[in-house]
Amino acid sequence: MLSVIRRDISEIVSACQALDVQGGVVGTIGVEFEEPSTRTRLSTLAACAELGLHAVEIVERSRLSISKGENLADSYQVMGEIFDLFACRTTAVGMPHRISRWTSKPVLNLGDGPGEHPSQAVSAAVAALDHGLDFRDLTLGVWGDIVKARTIFSTVMTFLLLGARVRLVSMVEGEIPDRLLTAATQLGLDQRLVHLPHKSDLVGVDVMYITRLQQERRAQFTAPSHLTLDLEDIEGVRLVLHPLPRGAEVTEKLWAALRPGLLAHVRRTKRVRKRLLQGLAHGHWTAWGEGVSWTHASHPPGQCSFTSAEEIPFFAQSESKHCAACWSRLW
Ligand code: CP
Repeated sequence: MLSVIRRDISEIVSACQALDVQGGVVGTIGVEFEEPSTRTRLSTLAACAELGLHAVEIVERSRLSISKGENLADSYQVMGEIFDLFACRTTAVGMPHRISRWTSKPVLNLGDGPGEHPSQAVSAAVAALDHGLDFRDLTLGVWGDIVKARTIFSTVMTFLLLGARVRLVSMVEGEIPDRLLTAATQLGLDQRLVHLPHKSDLVGVDVMYITRLQQERRAQFTAPSHLTLDLEDIEGVRLVLHPLPRGAEVTEKLWAALRPGLLAHVRRTKRVRKRLLQGLAHGHWTAWGEGVSWTHASHPPGQCSFTSAEEIPFFAQSESKHCAACWSRLW
């Protein structure tokens, strides 16, 4: 199973690194953003425009017939007859998975609460390739909100699956990234993942991934100022990535040094989303995503077609479960 996953994620990342794609996608995509977003929402809409894929924003659920008593499942089933694919950012963890079970059309997860942000993770992997790095000879250092930031989960799993080693250091002292550690163990990747206590544990990494503290998911917690990264903390690092927006995790001086690279990365994420949308719309990756969702398999919990599947509660908050085999397939 793992060789299949590695091949699949390598294929996706390589395809996304390929030259920019132009036009050629006929159809309509339903785009829904339940949470604020600048980069993901606008880059997705721009990517659709450049592909010739018509985007319709599903602006407010209260304006759907849900307000007249229709349930969400029925609404999405109906919308699946109207749209050719969906892209959504949801507040609830696992909601893109649910949507993908309600409609037969592909669903691109653009961030589900603190769950996942796979297209951002693919763009991070593409950045590593663009910088000539080899995943099998690379250590990724992760600094920031390693528990609540959805890009961390997706990025760490992507790099692990591609063969990298990963060091995790939390900005929030003592916090354990249980979900990541469990996922890595389930997939047999835990040998290459370490959770360390100090910022200095990141010295010597090749790629540094930084996120801000997710204040919107953490009532009344402010990071102590000594946790802010400065120029000397990234000495020798070959690539620094940050999904933005920025918080107090980097100094002004470091930010000024990183800004050009991070803005270039925003352009890269648009290109990656364009390629992903094209692949989905043309059905290139249906075997990988079971023809339903870019990120999740479609069967209900307990009804996995993989006999060796073991159910694991990745998404306890949404009460949905993902079996290890199917979860694997999403990467
Ligand atoms: N990186 C990212 O997801 O940013 P937005 O929330 O602005 O889309």
